[in-house]
Amino acid sequence: MYSITVVGTGYVGLVTGACFADFGNHVTCVDSDERKIERLRALELPFFEPGLPELVGRNIQEGRLTFTSDLEAALKGSKVVFITVGTPPRADGSADTRAIYAVARIVARNLDGYKLVVQKSTAPVGTARSLIAFMKRFAKRGAEFDVASTPEFLREGSAIETFMRPDRVVIGAESPRAEKILRDIHDPLFLLETPMVVTNLETAELIKYASNSFLATKISFINEIANLCEALGADVKVVAKGVGMDRRIGSKFLHAGPGYGGSCFPKDTQALAAFARADGVTTGIVEAAIAANERQMKLMVEKIVKAVGSPRGKRVGVLGLAFKPNTDDLREAPALTIIAGLKRRGIRVRAFDPVAMEGAAGIPALKGVEFAADAYDAARDAHALAIVTEWNEFRNLDLARLKRVMKRPVLCDLRNIYDPDDVTRAGMTHVGVGRGRPSAKRAAKRRKARA
Ligand SMILES: NC(=O)c1ccc[n+]([C@@H]2O[C@H](COP(=O)([O-])OP(=O)(O)OC[C@H]3O[C@@H](n4cnc5c(N)ncnc54)[C@H](O)[C@@H]3O)[C@@H](O)[C@H]2O)c1
Repeated sequence: MYSITVVGTGYVGLVTGACFADFGNHVTCVDSDERKIERLRALELPFFEPGLPELVGRNIQEGRLTFTSDLEAALKGSKVVFITVGTPPRADGSADTRAIYAVARIVARNLDGYKLVVQKSTAPVGTARSLIAFMKRFAKRGAEFDVASTPEFLREGSAIETFMRPDRVVIGAESPRAEKILRDIHDPLFLLETPMVVTNLETAELIKYASNSFLATKISFINEIANLCEALGADVKVVAKGVGMDRRIGSKFLHAGPGYGGSCFPKDTQALAAFARADGVTTGIVEAAIAANERQMKLMVEKIVKAVGSPRGKRVGVLGLAFKPNTDDLREAPALTIIAGLKRRGIRVRAFDPVAMEGAAGIPALKGVEFAADAYDAARDAHALAIVTEWNEFRNLDLARLKRVMKRPVLCDLRNIYDPDDVTRAGMTHVGVGRGRPSAKRAAKRRKARA
């Protein structure tokens, strides 16, 4: 059992803190946002994450989990300090790591015996090693500490499950003492036979960026194939199924859609490209994935505009604002870009999301958007209804009812969750992503162009 301080009580920090407390450790979660801490003490969680309120509540009650905004006090007697603060993108795409260094400075000044500082925020390769020299500048002579890196791979919406049953744990540690502590802390996961990679600091940091960049590339790749499917009369759902059956490729992250979003993929791909550029290395594939993603969101706007005909005086219902289901996280959500694009074309938007509407109200991209009471309310008097996030409750909508309430029954299924034939049979026009149909006319046109 360890005494652990987790600094930064956002998605990663709160989940990390609650899960390590659940493993039997004493955890103090720290955040510079005092209001957040007050709310957490009252068990008001700052974001929606299934199962987290119960886990946090149980560990508070059992005395293993506490919250404070006083980092210096939290550090007293704690052996392990996880840094889980935000690393938002700067204008040039590079990660802003100032919060990491601000925390490291305070930790260095408050070393009261050996401490292990574990850098868990996603930060450019080299950050953990640079923290060692940085902390030495502020630490008392002879103060003992190590810096390690354990990148986080949790997925919002299933964060507890992915923390408790990860595909792997990556530990960047370069002293036997640091490695032992991290092995001990993660022991409950190893009992479940979670594979582990123990490596140096830089390699651990790069595993995180390479993983996210690869997943983003997979999404951009299938989105490009989807666009090709539309041009050639093929169905991307079946193409992805056939491709994904090859075990070297795998079926995950091969779902065509409006493009990737969220707090990680856009930021981490940009950051990888930025630190590669700074080191004189070309990462053409990652840069192409970023460009394809931006293109895809624009294409979605064009798709919806085409579906409503001329945009003047038109109204579109949007289902789903969060970047993915089971979260209220709106950071870099495709819905924001798509709605902004529709508004620029003069289209009025009424949107519905099961949990993200509260946070959506103040977002500039959503200014002027009406918020609906449910999916059917979003569809009311609309000339098209666009499904942008595949929440479960949008998977089985009453199509006849939608048809009745809409001005024109057009379903833009940007997540390909409906069978086009079912939609057509219900008397609605179906618009998907990459759901091409063979057409003799198109084939003839192609033959002529090739001749
Ligand atoms: N959200 C995810 O799904 C996810 C997954 C893997 C990795 N990550 C990475 O983990 C890091 C944290 O992400 P997040 O989504 O939890 O961010 P977040 O924005 O939800 O939380 C960050 C928290 O840090 C606090 N903070 C900032 N500066 C501080 C300081 N100096 N002292 C104390 N607290 C401070 C903020 O108030 C905020 O509560 C990022 O680097 C991110 O890329 C996120």
